[in-house]
Amino acid sequence: MHETLEEYGAGAGGTRNISGHNRHAVELESTLARLHSKEAALVFSSCYVANDATLATLGSKLPDCVILSDSLNHASMIQGIRHSGTKKIVFKHNDVQDLEAKLAALPLHVPKIIAFESVYSMCGSIGPIEAICDLADKYGAITFLDEVHAVGMYGPNGAGVAEHLDFEAHKRGQWQGTIMDRIDIITGTLGKAYGCVGGYIAGSNKFQLHTRAVKDALDARDIPVIPNPSHIIPILVGDAELAKRASDMLLEDYNIYVQSINYPTVPVGQERLRVTPPRATPRSFATTSYARLTSSGPVSVLSAPRTGRPRAASSASAKRARRSSLWTEQQLGIEEVSRELKEEGKGPGEVVDAILQKEASTKAASSTSSA
Ligand SMILES: Cc1ncc(COP(=O)(O)O)c(C=O)c1O
Repeated sequence: MHETLEEYGAGAGGTRNISGHNRHAVELESTLARLHSKEAALVFSSCYVANDATLATLGSKLPDCVILSDSLNHASMIQGIRHSGTKKIVFKHNDVQDLEAKLAALPLHVPKIIAFESVYSMCGSIGPIEAICDLADKYGAITFLDEVHAVGMYGPNGAGVAEHLDFEAHKRGQWQGTIMDRIDIITGTLGKAYGCVGGYIAGSNKFQLHTRAVKDALDARDIPVIPNPSHIIPILVGDAELAKRASDMLLEDYNIYVQSINYPTVPVGQERLRVTPPRATPRSFATTSYARLTSSGPVSVLSAPRTGRPRAASSASAKRARRSSLWTEQQLGIEEVSRELKEEGKGPGEVVDAILQKEASTKAASSTSSA
């Protein structure tokens, strides 16, 4: 990045249709198109703008278009649909039956767009991508998938959840006929897991191990985490003031920054603290603020607001849901080592640390032998 800045300077020099269309923008777009196995990509100043502009354009240009939007869609999509001036139908969050009923009620000739997300950032739920593709095929709809919280985090190449669902095929470079291939439009950000300005980097999967350790540790301490299979850890508080107070205490007393999420981002009564993995994950889990979050001081802060507030369901299916993860141990390549370490009686954070340490010593040994 430094080298490029020194050679070419910063700033585009003008709008793209006059003078700001340069080699770097073109190369970035072709990298992004390749990542998602699409013919082309277009870079915007943010994904908010990308979602807004794309939905506004499609919705206004396709005559009589109807946009079917998941009820938990991000504000950028809602804004885009509003700007399109076209008809919007909201379907219940991740409810394919409701979506089908709404699609079936529309005339076949009407252009339809299904707008949804892969990872919903406020609850960590995952969109039923394949089932939505099936419905789109059946009713002739365009699929518009926001992978903002998934690019750089899921899939063998970091392309997101759609890629992750055909993990082995994409690992072999076979993308034709995959779920990602069936999605018409995928949007992503360059401001979260991937890069910063002008950079699009490959992601590491270590954060998935860390996420798992934190979820397990919170579960063991009876802190109510909303079950989901992604890297998002939503801790249910159920009261705006308490959520804010817990967030402030974690920052002031323990130097841990965890955002409190209140209305209107989530409904009243579902206020929460939202924990997400840091962008660059240090080697040792034990030294991360992520690990410190599950130590006794912060846990007492997290437990306090819970008194008399919503609790995590303790049924077997809720426990299973809490444990399920999009990344399997096999995909992470830790199946065997994790079993061995658990047999040795290691706890969640210790398993992660031991795996990372093993990985580091294998790397060190191989670089010594090749030197
Ligand atoms: C689901 C979703 N889509 C789009 C955006 C907007 O992305 P950006 O930060 O690149 O504008 C966000 C922001 O967090 C988001 O959560």
